[in-house]
Amino acid sequence: MDFSVSISASPHQTKTPALAVGVFTEGVLSTAADALDRACAGTLRAVVKAEFSARAGATLVLRNLAGVASPRVVLVGLGKQADYNPRAHARAEQAFASFCVQARLADATSTLAAIECGATSVRERARSAAAACGEATYYYDASFGKPDLNARPKLKKMTLQFANATDKAGATQGLSEGGALANGMSLARTLGNLPGNICTPTYLGEAAKKLGKEFKSISVKVFDRKQIEALKMGSFLSVARGSVEQPRFIVLHYKGKAAVAKRGAKVAAGPIVLVGKGITFDSGGISLKPAATMDEMKFDMCGAASVLGAFRALAEIGLPGEIIGLIPTCENMPSGTANKPGDVVTSMSGQTIEILNTDAEGRLILCDALTYAERFKPSAVIDIATLTGACVVALGKVNTGLFSTDDALAEALLAAGRQSMDTAWRLPLDDAYQEQLKSNFADMANIGGQPGGAVTAACFLSRFAKAYPWAHLDIAGTAWRGGGEKGSTARPVPMLLQYLINQA
Ligand code: BES
Ligand code: MN
Ligand code: ZN
Repeated sequence: MDFSVSISASPHQTKTPALAVGVFTEGVLSTAADALDRACAGTLRAVVKAEFSARAGATLVLRNLAGVASPRVVLVGLGKQADYNPRAHARAEQAFASFCVQARLADATSTLAAIECGATSVRERARSAAAACGEATYYYDASFGKPDLNARPKLKKMTLQFANATDKAGATQGLSEGGALANGMSLARTLGNLPGNICTPTYLGEAAKKLGKEFKSISVKVFDRKQIEALKMGSFLSVARGSVEQPRFIVLHYKGKAAVAKRGAKVAAGPIVLVGKGITFDSGGISLKPAATMDEMKFDMCGAASVLGAFRALAEIGLPGEIIGLIPTCENMPSGTANKPGDVVTSMSGQTIEILNTDAEGRLILCDALTYAERFKPSAVIDIATLTGACVVALGKVNTGLFSTDDALAEALLAAGRQSMDTAWRLPLDDAYQEQLKSNFADMANIGGQPGGAVTAACFLSRFAKAYPWAHLDIAGTAWRGGGEKGSTARPVPMLLQYLINQA
């Protein structure tokens, strides 16, 4: 989508196929709605009073209002003015974009980001508006026999209108960030939604290479089984061995302009490393999962997809600094060559692991990627993984689980989550939980029993992440939706990008 900014204090003169103006409950009009109301001699206010509740996300179209240039004025409900917050704003932008999609419009103008909203800046509101448009216009038809081209959203251009010229710079910057975020999310979403027989480890490797071709700032290396063997990633390879699909280890290297040191501060010591779990299908292996909803285990590569999505977005923005992406990717399948309960494997770190449950495979592929990350002398390593059903039990589908050995890193991620409305909740990592990973036959077991399953999974990873500040995001509950709305959410791309923007 194309985004642009226009400055006008006379929205009634704006020539656009559809013009969105915000309305709060109890008939409170936004500045733009009030300007339109004066232009049409009170018709707008009368309609609001007669038949518009203005609950958050509601829309009502007024066609051909006298004195207004746009043929469609779209009233967008903002809820109670006292409760108006960034979420309500995002919802309103999304409601308007959805209206435009349904009405098959190609071009529209929104005045919603001009409305003051808590402590937010114009830049933040513009960023969120663009992301909301991306959400409303996302459409998946990659695996339908005959994609219905007429069903694809036509909305290609959204203009944000502000009354004050002083808002232009912030809005333009926010839109470029939000547009990049939307593109990154769209990539992450489609990779997540693609079926496991198409989105294989090889396919993910090709998707990464494509990013490297598209952006000069990204270079990509894709290691095959032989090269992964040479790296001695015995834990990762033990999972890959069960499938005929070939594993890949993907290394992305983003180099922006040199980071500028804040006055008095040292330039960050090393790059930030993102590590994404790329299990393109998780059957559970020999510890086979039950059949119901097993199809959703095609989403077990959403961590990997979020890394690729974040790279797409940060390259498009051109953030300063150096960022590394690491993606171990394979299938987890039962077969004659698959891991068996009781097998002991040797990780790249030299630590041995007794595999008590072959379905706890995510940690087995991530641990070797975490060891590989040491060579970059990173200032922070963040892994992103659909790691445990226990995390879904603990936090539901609202918050991503956050674990960290570093309070500053944890705070920075939590703050980025709040800012981007892609929130996480911190869970503990106390040493006392480590005892559950004790094995009689290896340095550790790969499971710690039922109690605190999300925590012991994080504890397992922490044993491979001692060389740098580290955080782990368990996105098992947040990466996709099931049921009638089944599909990838592209979370936590917004949080990751916000974190990287804040660090740059
Ligand atoms: N990919 C799953 C985690 C998962 C399960 C995510 C359900 C979303 C919904 C992971 O590989 C897994 O199977 N974890 C096991 C760990 C257990 C065997 C210790 C789990 O959570 O059941
Ligand atoms: Mn599993
Ligand atoms: Zn898994």
